[in-house]
Amino acid sequence: MPRLHLEHVDSTNHYCKENLNNLCDKMVVTAKNQTAGRGRFARNWVDLGEGNLFLSIVLKPANRFQPVYSNLTQYLSVVLCHVLEKYGMQPEIKWPNDVLIEGKKIAGILSETVMQGNDFRGLVLGIGVNLRANSEDLTKIPDKVVTALNIEHGENVDCEIFLKCLLEEFFLCYDEFIENGFSFIRSDYLGYANFINKEVCVQVLNETKSGIVKTVDDDGALLLEKDDQELVLTIGDIL
Ligand code: BTN
Repeated sequence: MPRLHLEHVDSTNHYCKENLNNLCDKMVVTAKNQTAGRGRFARNWVDLGEGNLFLSIVLKPANRFQPVYSNLTQYLSVVLCHVLEKYGMQPEIKWPNDVLIEGKKIAGILSETVMQGNDFRGLVLGIGVNLRANSEDLTKIPDKVVTALNIEHGENVDCEIFLKCLLEEFFLCYDEFIENGFSFIRSDYLGYANFINKEVCVQVLNETKSGIVKTVDDDGALLLEKDDQELVLTIGDIL
């Protein structure tokens, strides 16, 4: 797949969105440094320095938006779990797409849709993976319990090899996923889910919902049970 590697950029996602018309389907954009990495819900993504992965993939699967595109972040979280297992890790997923090792966040995934007026132009699927950090670096992210692969693995991990592995795994079943939707990966996803049958609080925009997680349905939505009522959540973050 075609790839562009940038030395410095504000955000690989932002770069891809701005240049979408000139970037082809499945174009891979990486950066050595990111000065203004973006996270979900307008949060930022801290650059822990060289050797970490900052990646965006441009996707133009069709001329119209399809609901399955909203599940691409979940697909990528499963793909990442497969890769982390190859490094001897036992990853877990916190709905919808946070990947954790020993309860600590190791990666963040952000998908952004690009529209031109009412026309769907494509998607930018971004992922940051903490591959190399020391415990002092991690204090730059005070609001979350985070980790990096070198810390968990016990030795440094080559960013290029990790990237190759991730992209191969991503494109292996990408077409089938787009065709079949979340149900194609549901059992795999549930195998990594660390929140089933647990009591959770979920931040949904400005509200907090709580309940016991029953499952994640065929559309990737979180099913919560509260006072004999069922809540179906399609966006949010388990706190
Ligand atoms: C999150 O956990 O909130 C998502 C973080 C996503 C970070 C990645 S790093 C590469 C790409 N470029 C960005 O600006 N964000 C994503």
